[in-house]
Amino acid sequence: MFISFEGTEGSGKSTQVKAVYAALQAASYDVLLTREPGGTDIGNQIRKIVLDTMSNTQMQARAELLLFCASRAQLVGEVIRPTLAKGGIILCDRYADSTLAYQGYGHGLPIDDLKQILQFATSGLYPDMTIYLDLLPEKGLARRREGTFEGEDWNRLDDMEIAFHHRVYQGYQSIIANDKQRFVIVDADQAPTAITKVILDAIMPRLASKTEATK
Ligand code: TMP
Repeated sequence: MFISFEGTEGSGKSTQVKAVYAALQAASYDVLLTREPGGTDIGNQIRKIVLDTMSNTQMQARAELLLFCASRAQLVGEVIRPTLAKGGIILCDRYADSTLAYQGYGHGLPIDDLKQILQFATSGLYPDMTIYLDLLPEKGLARRREGTFEGEDWNRLDDMEIAFHHRVYQGYQSIIANDKQRFVIVDADQAPTAITKVILDAIMPRLASKTEATK
């Protein structure tokens, strides 16, 4: 089973994906936690280029898009497909929806072109389930500035103007509206432990039924 986590800046996604990972490990599931951009040596090199706040401020939106997709292509081939093939569970901190939301709705690149590029980069692999942490951009960015969430460094996209973050937020709403079955929408303006519980309540029955079906 392939589960992705999505949300705007400071929605607490990375904190939650780690908590869910720990819970699934404790329940003896074969689970792997990864993230985008990154998750492989090559992907981590791309991550540095694409999120650099100092050197790469002139990056073109199309170049940015292709870098995110290159990182994803590597992750799918090197990590995600092999793990799924041996029956493992993948938890991925961001995936293709981030590209549609940020590069598509945020930067205004054509959505239909992006969908084709995503299809190519992922070789047609999409998550079974996506957890969307819903938080208004102002709240998320304020959290990020305060450094509320451990391990999340300020990046080049955080630096975009507030209108960009609103477009990304609206973009996610459109993506969800077109694919309601796949998404679990979670109110991210709650205590982290309460959020983890909501997510686990959504994931556990799905995992149990998948495990039962493969017996
Ligand atoms: P994060 O690790 O804190 O989520 O940061 C990753 C940043 O990269 C975040 O600002 C969202 C952005 N991003 C895109 O713009 N497009 C993508 O396809 C991905 C995966 C991330």
